[in-house]
Amino acid sequence: MAEVRKVATRREVRPRVAEKVRTLPPSGIRAFFELVIGRDDVISLGVGEPDFVTPWHIRETALYRISQGDTTYTSNSGLLSTRAAIARYLHERFKATFDPEDEMLLTVGVSEGLDLVLRAILEPGDEVIIWQPSYVAYAPLVTLAGGVPVALNTSIEAGFGLDLNALENLITDRTRAVFINYPSNPTGATLRREDLEGLVRICVPRQILMISDEVYAELTHDGDHVSLAAIPGAAEWTVLLSGFSKAFAMTGWRLGYAAGPREVIAAMTKIHQYSIMCAPIMAQRAGEAALTEGLDDMREMCAIYRQRRNMIVKGLNEIGLPCHRPAGAFYAFPSIRHTGLDSETFCRKLLEEESVAIVPGNAFGEAGEGYVRMAYAASFQTIERALAGLERFLKRL
Ligand SMILES: Cc1ncc(COP(=O)(O)O)c(C=O)c1O
Repeated sequence: MAEVRKVATRREVRPRVAEKVRTLPPSGIRAFFELVIGRDDVISLGVGEPDFVTPWHIRETALYRISQGDTTYTSNSGLLSTRAAIARYLHERFKATFDPEDEMLLTVGVSEGLDLVLRAILEPGDEVIIWQPSYVAYAPLVTLAGGVPVALNTSIEAGFGLDLNALENLITDRTRAVFINYPSNPTGATLRREDLEGLVRICVPRQILMISDEVYAELTHDGDHVSLAAIPGAAEWTVLLSGFSKAFAMTGWRLGYAAGPREVIAAMTKIHQYSIMCAPIMAQRAGEAALTEGLDDMREMCAIYRQRRNMIVKGLNEIGLPCHRPAGAFYAFPSIRHTGLDSETFCRKLLEEESVAIVPGNAFGEAGEGYVRMAYAASFQTIERALAGLERFLKRL
């Protein structure tokens, strides 16, 4: 009773929100795009989202399936037919082999897969090495899962490559996993077979899980994408994350997948069954159609991104912003160091003066300071107008 009275009369304000959430910085991209809200005059190369709608044959299949009553839950792992279609696709395209029965889980976008794998494997204080600059969600998700993000930085001078010696130096007794994403958001860099073999040589003997986000695999513009899951010796320590948002222009469907060792997939499925239950059945049907009814529409979109890549890289170098040639994804990541401005000031002034919206590089980790990210998932005309605004801006500096 005394205890109850003590609680009821306490004066100090108790925070409603957990400390690890309170102290988590908001996404740098979102923070920047608050400035754009309500303005319809903005030329935006900001958001990393295809400017295409989902190909018609995929939408049509989904509409038909809904008309037939596909409106229910599915198994927690997702429809076996969809998992089997993904397994066939991964094998045919990338020589990566997974059993759709128990080595695969359908997720709500790659986003859910990222969260699940970290929650499934991390003990409090475990370290996760992240190749940076990186996708904005990785470090916060590591923190939310109780882990400690550790940055493995790269730079334009290194061709935005993966420095395996530096990686080895960062490994401690607490290292549980290494995060790679290639082709990379935001740098557009990709990894070659030798890089992946080197990574496997370092991680597998130390029992470090390699989390490979290959959501931009189909958007590889130079050479062929090599999946980490297809590298000999990698399978037991690799979780492959991918999905449909980017190459298939299916961001709104929210469908992704995780494939990897049974034990890890089972652990991820356990969390998923309590928190999500299953990915939406309509999205699963749509994803299956995307892979089984021909990949031509996807290839056409990828060819257009490639032309835009060539245009933006040439344009940026011509106006004096050194830009590494991104081998994939749909981002250019030029250096702005010589302007003397930090990346946030550069982007804010560019928006104010020329109404061009791009993303400050520091949104992708400290290693992104001194760069800006320009998403070329936009029409040729929009890219041209953004480059023209950028050129006028640079001339005035
Ligand atoms: C590297 C990377 N991974 C994951 C995602 C999230 O993808 P999804 O829409 O499948 O959740 C993105 C989205 O921008 C991304 O760039």
